[in-house]
Amino acid sequence: MKLNKKTTLKNGEVLTLRTAKLEDAPNLVDYYNQLYAETNNFTRGKEDAPLVLKSELEYLKTQNLPRNVMLVAIINKTIVGHVVISEKSSKMKLKHRCEFTIGVLKQHWGKGIAGKMMMEIIKLATNLNYEQIDLVVLKSNTRAIELYNSFGFEITGEIKHSFKMADGSYEDGIFMTKFLNLNKTV
Ligand SMILES: CC(C)(COP(=O)(O)OP(=O)(O)OC[C@H]1O[C@@H](n2cnc3c(N)ncnc32)[C@H](O)[C@@H]1OP(=O)(O)O)[C@@H](O)C(=O)NCCC(=O)NCCS
Repeated sequence: MKLNKKTTLKNGEVLTLRTAKLEDAPNLVDYYNQLYAETNNFTRGKEDAPLVLKSELEYLKTQNLPRNVMLVAIINKTIVGHVVISEKSSKMKLKHRCEFTIGVLKQHWGKGIAGKMMMEIIKLATNLNYEQIDLVVLKSNTRAIELYNSFGFEITGEIKHSFKMADGSYEDGIFMTKFLNLNKTV
């Protein structure tokens, strides 16, 4: 499902939100490597090997599947954010669920970019006949939890010791779900 939209942020900057393309791969490698170095909130972090072009190209090909969507947020030709929904499984019992991830480069936090991406991805998930969007977030990530709460996500579970950090400490996670299309079948 394709999207290509321009919108103005609260600080006046113009944000393009569009579906990621294979040609974005080199810029996405730089974007992700910066994002993963800036935050400990993703499974991949600065302690892991950096992303390389080949793996990013492989990943982008999976985003061409009909029920997977990856959007990139662009300011002045630079990728500053991304959001992904992907089918949890092609098995019939799981086709009603999609998994979700989102990120914005730190220098662009607080401009409303994640909020704009959430609005679009929830519409796309609904149009793709998903019944729920599932995510896992660290309990300490209050910024993301606030964002998810404001879009109607509910806490549906807890994972003790979800992440083991580089210093040996553990971080607990929570499952959050946004229920959509409750009366439909896929
Ligand atoms: C979480 C994240 C995506 C938010 O992106 P963002 O573009 O800064 O978010 P927005 O500016 O659109 O703000 C959206 C909402 O987040 C919440 N938020 C923003 N700033 C906040 C703050 N300082 N404290 C708490 N909540 C805050 C608010 O609910 C806000 O809505 P509002 O502006 O209407 O009040 C971004 O901080 C990020 O990429 N973090 C690192 C990666 C990450 O944690 N991803 C999620 C993994 S589960």
